[in-house]
Amino acid sequence: MRYDFDKLVDRRGSGAIMTDVLQERYGRSDLLALWVADMYFETPEPIRAALAQRLDHPIYGYSVPKDSYWASIINWERELHGWKIRRGDLCFIPGIVRGIAYVLQCFTQPGDKVVVQPPVYMPFLNLPRDNGRQVVYNPLVWNAAAGTYRMDLDNLAEVCRKEQPKVLILSNPHNPAGIVWPKEDLAGLAEICQRHGVLVISDEIHADMALAGHVHHPFQTVSPTAAEVSIAFAAPSKTFNIAGLVSSFCVVPNPKLREPFFHYLEANEFSAPLFLSAIATEAAFTQCGAWREQMLDYVKGNVDFVCDFLRDKVPGIVPVRPQASFLIWLDCRGLGLDHDALIDLFVNRAKVAFNDGEAFGPGGEGHMRMNVGAPRAMVAEAMQRIEAAVKTLI
Ligand SMILES: Cc1ncc(COP(=O)(O)O)c(C=O)c1O
Repeated sequence: MRYDFDKLVDRRGSGAIMTDVLQERYGRSDLLALWVADMYFETPEPIRAALAQRLDHPIYGYSVPKDSYWASIINWERELHGWKIRRGDLCFIPGIVRGIAYVLQCFTQPGDKVVVQPPVYMPFLNLPRDNGRQVVYNPLVWNAAAGTYRMDLDNLAEVCRKEQPKVLILSNPHNPAGIVWPKEDLAGLAEICQRHGVLVISDEIHADMALAGHVHHPFQTVSPTAAEVSIAFAAPSKTFNIAGLVSSFCVVPNPKLREPFFHYLEANEFSAPLFLSAIATEAAFTQCGAWREQMLDYVKGNVDFVCDFLRDKVPGIVPVRPQASFLIWLDCRGLGLDHDALIDLFVNRAKVAFNDGEAFGPGGEGHMRMNVGAPRAMVAEAMQRIEAAVKTLI
């Protein structure tokens, strides 16, 4: 079956953060919104059918996930990534950002240090900070030959030695630059963290969206050390456009981490899925493989479209070609604008809502993040608006 990713679905008024908070966030509501990281594609039909079937039952009482829910996660990870997960190492998590907060609360004290690798997904910076932990940076380094960033492992070793952090938060694949990390880098990071007693949180929410030609490596598969030092999080939420159902899971093979963490989750009742989350997850992982493949082909087409368009028509904006997921990190420094002028260009002249690169921490200055998980017509419209707006600068 061919799925129709060109279909335009009006999300306005549905409570979507994407469309319904533009006035508060951007100061105007008449924007073409391609910012927050969910997609404009309809959630695959088997998921909607499974939810509808359950909702048809007239009682929505306390529920327990079926064994087939856990099996669907284990099978999916094994078949897609060769990641062999033991049932006993697996636990439900009500959202990955919350999961990260739980790890910080369970394993660190106020004042403890947390390493992040900016530019990176904003909650990695804000969440430790807002919980009284200190954020220390191991900035990514631009690798011109590869056209993307690399991790600086020498500097990471130095940061660990000097700052003695308790935790490192890894975005694997990386948001915002869409990087699929090389296996050797992940293994090297694991070695350094083990040497310095640093717990690694591997956030793999974008894992199932490696684009053609790229292979995602689950952190815990790269070496025994990586499995030992880490708590991994993954979810069907981005891939199948069900973020609103808040369904994720964590994998903790090391009993020294698993026992306290699972105790913490259970003691606080964080580990019981909403009944709809489990149903949607199982339907995604058992019935939506073909949808995922077609969606990724379509997104790859959007990435090619944006990269070609900017190269030909707006050379002052240079995209970092993503290796995974539906986000494109745009280097806008070639336009020569300061921060306010850059935001004014996108919001008031082009009338598009993208993410402000500065929110992603050091290295995000002069950048914007665009979401291309949308029908091609929307992506093309955004590009045309930007081309026209840039012309007004001259
Ligand atoms: C790297 C990363 N982690 C986590 C999230 C959000 O996860 P959740 O909605 O499960 O909290 C996002 C959403 O954009 C993300 O990009």
